Amino acid sequence: MEEKIALYLKEIAAFSADNLEQLEAFRIKFLSKKGLVPALFADFKEVAPEDRKVMGQRLNELKTAVQEKIVSLKDQLDSKVETTGNKQDVTLPSQSTLGSRHPLSIVRNEIIDIFSRIGFTVSEGPEIEDDFHNFTALNFPEEHPARDMQDTFFIEKDPDLALRTHTSSVQVRVMEHSQPPLRTISPGRVFRNEAISARAHCIFHQVEGLYVDEGVSFTDLKQTLLYFARELFSENTKIRFRPSYFPFTEPSAEMDVSCNICGGEGCNICKYTGWVEILGCGMVDPNVLEACNIDSKKYTGFAFGMGIERITMLKYQVNDLRLFFENDVRFLNQFKPAR
Ligand code: PHE
Repeated sequence: MEEKIALYLKEIAAFSADNLEQLEAFRIKFLSKKGLVPALFADFKEVAPEDRKVMGQRLNELKTAVQEKIVSLKDQLDSKVETTGNKQDVTLPSQSTLGSRHPLSIVRNEIIDIFSRIGFTVSEGPEIEDDFHNFTALNFPEEHPARDMQDTFFIEKDPDLALRTHTSSVQVRVMEHSQPPLRTISPGRVFRNEAISARAHCIFHQVEGLYVDEGVSFTDLKQTLLYFARELFSENTKIRFRPSYFPFTEPSAEMDVSCNICGGEGCNICKYTGWVEILGCGMVDPNVLEACNIDSKKYTGFAFGMGIERITMLKYQVNDLRLFFENDVRFLNQFKPAR
């Protein structure tokens, strides 16, 4: 019997189980009614009385060894199930790639930042706009071509509503609710019924600017936009104004910046002129101030509006505007901030 016990103890110490089935087989082998341990207890009757004390201790030792082995192996197997059940190893280095800001958002934020440094607030208005805010208050004559179906997306159910064709509508919304001094920029989406090409899209983004106060002059407009162009492109950027026409500004102008690609030498981006147009601007027409209940005898103002796509194309040398809307990660990844 002593030999058997020694043999079993060795076997128990060496045993390991890969799964609960193996452990159960082990338990049955030793502890079930017909198992090895009860068999030894049955043999105990035959043991000589003088040996019983020692042999009894040995038998109990064996039984405890089996029981302890089962408990410890069960613990091990349970914790193994927990970790394999939860497939994530939180200690592994991250495999997921970080996203990046859309180039249009990067440039919009930069524009907001530049103007907020000189006291401009940010204001917003609705994308579905009524005729008054998009056209009438902005001094568009009844027969103006921009009101035409060809340019404007109207809302079928209500002929008074359309998708705003420019962010100038936000000028009206700001002025009708507050009195000068006003200094605000309005970034947002605008919509025009245009064929989609490398240079045009039916949805694009603008930033509007408006400054109304006593004594605001064209000089203020020029100096503000010069500051803006130098902050956005580079210190050496030059600007020039060309006379233009908008119903809501008088006088009106288009502003060009010296081409930031060739520095004014001439390249295909600036069509070998050294200049690229980036915005429309002018002095707010007194009719617009009056339509918004602002005293045009007391106050003057300037306004400007720029396309974010166009500026982003220039700044990052993107040659097709459609890339901004395709969400191809190979394109977007290039705008990750350097780390
Ligand atoms: N709203 C004009 C456009 O969309 C831009 C503009 C804004 C011009 C403000 C003058 C003043 O083209």
